[in-house]
Amino acid sequence: MGCDVSGPMEEQEQKLRERMAAVKRVIVIMSGKGGVGKTSVSVNLAYALAASGKKVGLLDTDMHGPNVAKMLGIEKEVMQQFGAEVLPVTTGHGLKVVSLALLGHGPDTPFIWRGPMKTAAIRQFLSDVEWGGLDYLVVDSPPGTGDEPLSVCQFLPGISRAVIVTTPQDVAVLDARKSVMFAQQLGIPVIGIIENMSGMLCPHCQKEIPLFGKGGGERAARELGVGFLGSIPLDPDLVVAGDSGVPFLSREAAGAAGTAFQKIIERIEKAGA
Ligand SMILES: Nc1ncnc2c1ncn2[C@@H]1O[C@H](COP(=O)(O)OP(=O)(O)OP(=O)(O)O)[C@@H](O)[C@H]1O
Ligand SMILES: [Mg+2]
Repeated sequence: MGCDVSGPMEEQEQKLRERMAAVKRVIVIMSGKGGVGKTSVSVNLAYALAASGKKVGLLDTDMHGPNVAKMLGIEKEVMQQFGAEVLPVTTGHGLKVVSLALLGHGPDTPFIWRGPMKTAAIRQFLSDVEWGGLDYLVVDSPPGTGDEPLSVCQFLPGISRAVIVTTPQDVAVLDARKSVMFAQQLGIPVIGIIENMSGMLCPHCQKEIPLFGKGGGERAARELGVGFLGSIPLDPDLVVAGDSGVPFLSREAAGAAGTAFQKIIERIEKAGA
């Protein structure tokens, strides 16, 4: 898929509207701060919804660090193009994935783009990709309130809902609050906040170690009047799963983090449906 941004924009937005009319719900995963677990949440949420029989797409809008394909073990795949149509890469779980990392440019090629290029790429991802009918389109975002979540929210206002990921520590929560305000100012309902990396069990004494503190996400949710979706503890298996391209939730024994994750997904489905 090239990145031709010169086509008539109105025609493309019309195509985008037609294409997205077959999508019931868009869940935009956001955070103010980097590295808090957005991609891990996006991949596992999309995987779990697809595994439960839903029709699910996963759009990676992180242009500078697209990690979705790697976390799903499909980074060597390439999206195919037929005429003006682009096919997403479909995983063994039936999940339809679109990412810059699936354009076949190789893992080390950076995309050195300013904002308008990113917006144009997202418009193309939404209009030119043959997504088909979807129950959920899960959107992974880069950190912050920049062009990528802004474009998605502006292109898909009625059907989008935001999920904000934070760690418990103050600096992450401070930025998460901005993400909540960002979504609210754009008129996108916030399903809630997830507190990730919230404590870890000491392998020796089995006591919980609050590495990044505890409770910051819940406090922020209360103060901002949005839902609190739950806490996911630190679990080294999540790192192993992400790096090996196997969704954490597809493992048989996903432990306390897996149970917490599943509960959060149920709450998202309930609140966002
Ligand atoms: N609960 C957890 N326990 C342990 N490791 C985790 C947990 N959640 C995420 N990680 C790990 O933390 C790292 C960052 O996670 P991830 O890439 O999902 O964050 P991100 O918010 O998408 O980052 P970025 O802002 O760079 O896009 C990854 O190595 C991931 O495997
Ligand atoms: Mg990420």
